[in-house]
Amino acid sequence: MSQKVALVTGAAAGIGAAICRRLAADGIAVGVLDLNIADATKVANGIVSSGGKAIALQASVADRAQVNTALDSLRSEFGPVTIVVNNAGITGWVPFEELTDELWDRMMEINLKGTFIVTQLALPDMKAAQWGRIVNISSSSAQSGTATMAHYSASKGGVISLTRTLALELGPLGITVNNIPPASIAGTVMFEATKDKMPMPVEAIQKMLPVRRLGEPEDIANACAWLVSEDSSYVTGQTIGVNGGRVVS
Ligand SMILES: NC(=O)c1ccc[n+]([C@@H]2O[C@H](COP(=O)([O-])OP(=O)(O)OC[C@H]3O[C@@H](n4cnc5c(N)ncnc54)[C@H](O)[C@@H]3O)[C@@H](O)[C@H]2O)c1
Repeated sequence: MSQKVALVTGAAAGIGAAICRRLAADGIAVGVLDLNIADATKVANGIVSSGGKAIALQASVADRAQVNTALDSLRSEFGPVTIVVNNAGITGWVPFEELTDELWDRMMEINLKGTFIVTQLALPDMKAAQWGRIVNISSSSAQSGTATMAHYSASKGGVISLTRTLALELGPLGITVNNIPPASIAGTVMFEATKDKMPMPVEAIQKMLPVRRLGEPEDIANACAWLVSEDSSYVTGQTIGVNGGRVVS
């Protein structure tokens, strides 16, 4: 995998940063894309200090021009981009009756349209290589539903449907498309900011999970590393739950 180049979005922190570190450790050159360029630069510098290849890229996934510019920078630094991990996302806890058009639209813009934009712009490199890996980070909330997260759950449900459709459309081109719906991945900015709003205390969630522990960003990174490898070439259109058993299927 040493010549492969990956773009990871929402990569300045949490799950995205762990995915970047893991892919780089596996010999993949990584574009660390985020709105937050200061923290993305720290992640990229950390990878380079450990002997890996990475550059930081500033863009909003919802902005086609910014993503295009970021992809061009990544291509000129390391070559064609044949791996994309759509991880950037925002969350929100709002009772359905209080949801506004603005909150709904912002959630869809970043979580769902951002996945569409980034994937579409990276596709030409994968088509040219007749090989590609797309991994979309969805959410267990899309599988089970979560009260007061209608806009978030709907956006992530869209990500799962997009995954299935692209798997059918891009499979003949040598490109696999899968999604990972995480649940309760502790230590990330998103988890820490929202854990007080969850329907039960974190300790209770932990006790309820079959594996009796919260997840770590590295749990998602491990699954992602497999999904972008040659070992998963017969796997496409799938939802690979990494959730400690919160959702079983
Ligand atoms: N942590 C969990 O328990 C959990 C559970 C289910 C799903 N997820 C999903 O996993 C992904 C990562 O979550 P996390 O917990 O690491 O979140 P996080 O908030 O810690 O990190 C998300 C990153 O995305 C970046 N980002 C936000 N909007 C962006 C945009 N428009 N363009 C580019 N970057 C943007 C942020 O700056 C941040 O660095 C998200 O898609 C989230 O929905 C997380």
